[in-house]
Parts: sequence; structure tokens; C-alpha cells
Amino acid sequence: MLFRQLYEPDSSTYSYLLSCPESGETVIIDPVLDTAERDMSVLQSLGLKLTYTIDTHIHADHLSGARRLKALAGSSICYPAVDELACADIGLQEGKPFKVGNIDIHPLFTPGHTDHHHGYLIHTPVQSMLFSGDALLIDGVGRTDFQSGDSEALYNSIQQKYFSLPDDTLVYPCHDYNQRRVSSIAQEKARNAHIGGAKSLEEFKTIMANLDLPYPRKIDFAVPGNEQCGQCPDNVPSEFRGPCARHDQG
Ligand code: FE2
Repeated sequence: MLFRQLYEPDSSTYSYLLSCPESGETVIIDPVLDTAERDMSVLQSLGLKLTYTIDTHIHADHLSGARRLKALAGSSICYPAVDELACADIGLQEGKPFKVGNIDIHPLFTPGHTDHHHGYLIHTPVQSMLFSGDALLIDGVGRTDFQSGDSEALYNSIQQKYFSLPDDTLVYPCHDYNQRRVSSIAQEKARNAHIGGAKSLEEFKTIMANLDLPYPRKIDFAVPGNEQCGQCPDNVPSEFRGPCARHDQG
């Protein structure tokens, strides 16, 4: 398998390119609109054609690149089936591995950050890799205080779906705000500030209720835009319209 971890600095988002060398089928997990053209350059430099994009959830902090990449590369748009997005081509569900060539992607229903959030797990001959979305981050978790967030649901998702995985499973989050790129289940179980060290549900809920985070600066346009798979709605403020302008011209 060919693998690249890609970064979008404005929202500190990681996107993940996975490609099956036998079939040439290629997917990007959680692409960002702002870096769609960069993603196209990466694909071109690797001699790849994008087959699919997959989103972990309806993001509130950036616009998805799914729609733009579909226009540029002809990729099919995959979202959790429970989102029931009219713009999605394929709905993903836990228990139904999604094949990208010889790569089996296992969706894991992990509500809590949003009510429909999914992580994605793959097994390679060397290691297992968890694309944890915004449920589990490095030394933290995704916030639960907006959209359909629920700290008890997130606690149960992480404990039951992620912390039950083998310790050496690598954890690739959707974001990191401190330039960290990868963790492991063992590391997050041991030292994650919000849920590590065998914290109880009550301890976790107290921590999550007292994070005192600012209102997400892009949420008012990102959520409606992402319900359209990364369309730019009319209410995108001028300072964020750069990627939209490229989109409009595209
Ligand atoms: Fe999110």
C-alpha cells in the first residue's frame, strides 16, 4: 500500500492518501477544500488517479474537499450512510468493509463528537492503522459541545471501539494543533489528557464540560457546506472565500 499523510495548516487538518498498488485504486480520507489542488498535484506526482474520497463526519472547522475533488478527478464521494447525504455516492457502514482495491477499510461507528461520526481501520502486513477522525486525537479528543456532540457517547465510542484494538494499532487523527502526526492505542490509553489513564466516565464528562473552548470560527458555513459534501454556501465570509472562488471558477 502507498500512504501519504497530508496537512492543511489553516484548520490543522490531516488528510490521508491510501493507494492499492495492484489495482491503482486510491482514496483520500478527510480531504479539505483549501488543499484540493495540492492534493491533485500529489496524486499527479505519484501517477495516481483518485477513485474515492471518504469523510469521517460532517466537519465544523473546514469545508470538505470531496465535491471539489470529484469535479477535478472524478472521484466518488463516500460518507457514513447514516448521514443520508444526497450528494454522497456511497454510504459506509460498520460491519461492511469498503474495498479500495486490495485495501479493506473497516468503518467504526463512533458517535460523540457528532452523532454520526465514523473512524476507519485498516490492516496492513506491517501494522494496523486507525484513522480516528475527531473522536480520538493525540493527547486529547474532539470537542462535544456543538453540533450533535455528547461526551458520554464519545467516552463509550473510544473505550469500546478504539481502546479495544491491539495496543500497537497506529492512530492517525483528523487534526493536531501541535505538529504531532501519529500515535498508538497504547500511548493514548496511557497518557491521553482527556480519557487516558483509565479515567472514569464521570471524570471524562467533567473534563469535557470545562474545556472552555472558543466558538468554532467556520462552523456557520462549514456545517451547511459539508452537508453538501463541501459546497461553498453564500454565507462564507470574505476572509475564507479564497478556496470558494477557485471552486466557483472550477
Ligand atoms: Fe469535527
